[in-house]
Amino acid sequence: MQGFEFNTVGRLVNGSGSSLELAGECRKLGIARPLLVTDPGLVAIGLVQPVLAALQEQDLPALVFDQVREDPPEAVVLAATELGRSREIDGIIALGGGSSMDVAKVVAVLLGGDQQLSEIYGVGMVSGKRLPLVLVPTTAGTGSEATPVAVITTGETTKAGVSSPVLLPDVAVLDAELTLGLPPAVTAMTGVDAMVHAIEAYTSRHQKNVISDHLARQALDLLARNIRTAVHDGQSREARENMLLGACLAGQAFANAPVAAVHALAYPLGGHYHIPHGLSNSLVLPAVLEFNAPEACDLYAELVELVTGEVVPGSPEAKTFALIDALRTLIEDVALPATLQQAGVSEDDLEMLAEDAMLQQRLLVNNPRDVAYDDALAIYRAAYWGAE
Ligand SMILES: NC(=O)c1ccc[n+]([C@@H]2O[C@H](COP(=O)([O-])OP(=O)(O)OC[C@H]3O[C@@H](n4cnc5c(N)ncnc54)[C@H](O)[C@@H]3O)[C@@H](O)[C@H]2O)c1
Ligand SMILES: [Fe+2]
Repeated sequence: MQGFEFNTVGRLVNGSGSSLELAGECRKLGIARPLLVTDPGLVAIGLVQPVLAALQEQDLPALVFDQVREDPPEAVVLAATELGRSREIDGIIALGGGSSMDVAKVVAVLLGGDQQLSEIYGVGMVSGKRLPLVLVPTTAGTGSEATPVAVITTGETTKAGVSSPVLLPDVAVLDAELTLGLPPAVTAMTGVDAMVHAIEAYTSRHQKNVISDHLARQALDLLARNIRTAVHDGQSREARENMLLGACLAGQAFANAPVAAVHALAYPLGGHYHIPHGLSNSLVLPAVLEFNAPEACDLYAELVELVTGEVVPGSPEAKTFALIDALRTLIEDVALPATLQQAGVSEDDLEMLAEDAMLQQRLLVNNPRDVAYDDALAIYRAAYWGAE
């Protein structure tokens, strides 16, 4: 067996209502003056208030930064850092989706050490410590609560990642109650994002190992069995719990066996069209899997029954095509657009998108099959027209 490393979140608390017990988690970490990072939409729907009230009741009032935006720009990170610094806070709580969690991770580093934001982009660039960090996801998607990564928007069409084990939080708190009101479209997009994390981790060319494989399989099983119910019957506690856990397990898998061409080809769609991260992944997923099939069909064949829920006979190639078919059906069932055309992408832009995708070498090196410019363009064309 090849040697491997496995890193994950320090402590995981999973249970309905657990977001009302954050004070205890903070105290264990020595936090006395927390900054809670969230977004205005969550404040507006009343998700944040009970968590703040519980902290207050337990004598741990939090300072609030509620200005996180989707695909958070640097200005948001800097504003939150400034607020935290001015009040000498000593720990960070994120309550929100990937956007809030990623901002919180970076703010914890900027306030805990003496590096500037521009110095920490890339892999392994964080040199200092960070403030204690508690992450509470409200989407079942990015798995950011268990990954060493934060993604920040750096320009009009560009994002940059900070990747360092320092970003793994001290505690992740999974409280499915928080996700009951997640709208169907967000549930669908973020849920498919999590499924892609599991699939890409399972077929990652480097660093894939027995633990990431096990997590990816368990995640895909939970996500595929529950995503339809979570989308169409959002109040189902059981479906929400399974989705939140599945997304977190998928996050743990890809934190160690990194994602590849689906994400590499998805990022330019987010950059140029502001298509949400999960939908961007969903739009290119079937075409990337078809492209990868010649190299990865033995592994895809091992996943098919987790997605179809039934025995699929035949060769690895036949099973791979059954997997791709099942994913297409699932994308349709959760009411996401199936093609780039339907998502408003212009055919004239496909070359530009392919050029941009080639910049994502950090991700492409993990793909089971090499992706050159012509391949990326062919995948975008296939994703533009969809299945015949
Ligand atoms: N750190 C990582 O490992 C990682 C991995 C993948 C993606 N990302 C990043 O994460 C971000 C996307 O995160 P996301 O998909 O979780 O979405 P998000 O945090 O951007 O939130 C999307 C929308 O959903 C709303 N929302 C969130 N939870 C809700 C709830 N419970 N009820 C009602 N509305 C709710 C938010 O208010 C927001 O409007 C992107 O910036 C992406 O680049 C990070
Ligand atoms: Fe993702």
